[in-house]
Amino acid sequence: MKSKVLPIFCSVTLCLALSIQSLSAQWAADPSVEGKIAELVKKMTLEEKISMIHANSSFTSAGVPRLGIPELTTSDGPHGVRPEHGRDWVLDNKGGDSSTYLPVGITLASTWNTQLGYAFGAVLGQEANFRGKDVILGPGINIIRTPLNGRNFEYMSEDPYLISKMAVGYIKGVQDQGVSASLKHFIANNQEIMRSGINVEMSDRALREIYLPGFRAAVVEGGVNTVMGAYNRFRGEYCTYSNLLVNQILKGEWGFRGLVMSDWGAIHDTKEALLGGADLEMGTDLSMLPNPDFSKFYFADAALKLVRNGEVSESVIDDKVRRILRVMFKTHMFANRPKATHATKEHAELARKVAEEGITLLKNKGVLPFNKSALKTIAVIGANANRENAMGGGSSQVRPRYEITPLKGLQNAAGNSIGVVFEQGYTITKNATADKELIRKAVEAAKKADVAVVVGGWIHGYDYSKWDENAYDTEGFDKASLKMPFGQDELIQAVVKANPNTVVVLYGGGAIDMMAWEKNAKAIIQAGYPGMEGGNALASILFGDVNPSGKLTVTFPKTLKDIPAHKLGEYPGDSVTVRYNEDIFVGYRYFDTYRVKPLFSFGHGLSYTSYQYTKPLVATTDSSAVLKFTLENTGARGGAEVVQVYVADRKSSLKRPAKELKAFQKVFLQPGESREVEMTLDRSAFSYFNDQQGKWVLEPGEFDILIGSSSSDLRLKKRIKL
Ligand code: BGC
Repeated sequence: MKSKVLPIFCSVTLCLALSIQSLSAQWAADPSVEGKIAELVKKMTLEEKISMIHANSSFTSAGVPRLGIPELTTSDGPHGVRPEHGRDWVLDNKGGDSSTYLPVGITLASTWNTQLGYAFGAVLGQEANFRGKDVILGPGINIIRTPLNGRNFEYMSEDPYLISKMAVGYIKGVQDQGVSASLKHFIANNQEIMRSGINVEMSDRALREIYLPGFRAAVVEGGVNTVMGAYNRFRGEYCTYSNLLVNQILKGEWGFRGLVMSDWGAIHDTKEALLGGADLEMGTDLSMLPNPDFSKFYFADAALKLVRNGEVSESVIDDKVRRILRVMFKTHMFANRPKATHATKEHAELARKVAEEGITLLKNKGVLPFNKSALKTIAVIGANANRENAMGGGSSQVRPRYEITPLKGLQNAAGNSIGVVFEQGYTITKNATADKELIRKAVEAAKKADVAVVVGGWIHGYDYSKWDENAYDTEGFDKASLKMPFGQDELIQAVVKANPNTVVVLYGGGAIDMMAWEKNAKAIIQAGYPGMEGGNALASILFGDVNPSGKLTVTFPKTLKDIPAHKLGEYPGDSVTVRYNEDIFVGYRYFDTYRVKPLFSFGHGLSYTSYQYTKPLVATTDSSAVLKFTLENTGARGGAEVVQVYVADRKSSLKRPAKELKAFQKVFLQPGESREVEMTLDRSAFSYFNDQQGKWVLEPGEFDILIGSSSSDLRLKKRIKL
């Protein structure tokens, strides 16, 4: 079968997206805009200023019509523009609000393709612009600390370097469309249990090395226009108005001149929040439903009173208004806002391309790709094969024009020549256990078929209209365990026994416990939530029309107990505080350093071809290194390899992880083609945050540069001295 090579520059959508000039200048002051802002602020009454710093509907805050300042209009979410709620919290259902359902954050990150990050953002930004939004509430970039976190699917990785690279592209893609991105949730919203108040304690080192770098890159390199504060607290202060996080680090150290908005209902005190750096209060009406009185918001009448009685200076309010106006000048009031398109075929094609590159082949013992001409029947088994995901998960819901499920995708690809038989295998209902009759039917179908594809894993929830019905991958809840729900272990065990040519496809925002059947399954695919074209993308991979190139962005443990947050740290903490005692040893940093073998390593993902790494060369200065090596596609299919570069410090005053990701590149090669790959490691690749000295340090000495196909499949090693 001919494989489709995926040269990055061949897709029409991608070319369009990449040809748009980068408009998202960093936050350098633009004197002409600053002048206009100053004039507007001078003309405003205090009441008008106050009206701008709190919500006046579910997703908007007021403008000042007499001065030509429009409302600020926001919308979720990270992987598509949310359906319309109008000014309240009830879905309008009037039609006309469909948008492209892109693969979720973790699936986007699994592509390890920064150009796709940009193209993804560009689609989102265009559609938000079309729907009249100024701010799209994404990307979500919280560190994946525990696989139980219900919102991991919206986030990207356990690794701050990978997050930084993917988020910067996404943000530029959004903002080049004249729409602001909103970076969330700043910071340490790493669990949904008790999210609205839990206090997070961690060391300065963990803060600087693990939890801040993605946010810093998004602000400093990505030039993000808005940041959303997290619900939780950090060292006792609410994150949205933590003096340390917002005033000192974000606005001080990083020079952020844009707007800090609260998460919906994350403000709890007027004076503290005004002085702690929050600029815009959103969502407090959630506690006032069904009759919100916006004058009762913390940043409404109460703020006015504090300024009038002199407890808070008007200049504090002016600064917030200026920040909101800066965002308005980059969006709604931006004269050159690009023309927007919406839910187009090209956007769906981009969604498919992200899915094709994000779906990850974890295991393959000679089953894949299927040989189309030799197949007569495929048994597709599992309720997830027939389930739509777009409207699930909470605030990130999207209403696409259509969603290709795995079953539909396989039916599309099979055409008339191959029979596709479906058996649901398990039932998606609360507390469902293995269903003997459904398993019996599934086994029968698997026996009769040439190959079986079991589609299972996590779901967003039972009933998408009721959030409190939700479980697993969803906002507001964490998973109760890592075990497969609905008796899927029993089902998979029975099917792999009935048909050795079984492929297990897992949906979900990260790891699941596979220990009951992993050894017996010949092929396993991690699909994430691959968006509206996901089923087609999956079928292309199963049939070998696309050569898989996704790589895991999180470690898949054998068991939950091996996860450092659970073993060394705390989860979910007591009712007040959660302590990140695992410190910087998050994800593979822990597994590698403490020599715990995971089931599938960070960065792991197989291909239908093979790659050879040869001829490493490294040239160093006193604080950087340029490395070169040759990568060759030694197999018979075109494909893409994600080459990963890890740095290991041989000796340091403070304990460092065994190795850390410091560079990567996705390289597309035809069969037999080889290319010299060059990458630069700057000072930051060798430095660590010494919290005894309170600064980043590069300790001279020996470092190993490890180059490979995953964090556990290293092919080249070079020792250098700096
Ligand atoms: C979520 C945010 C979301 C906001 C608006 C909050 O509950 O945490 O991520 O953007 O709602 O829907």
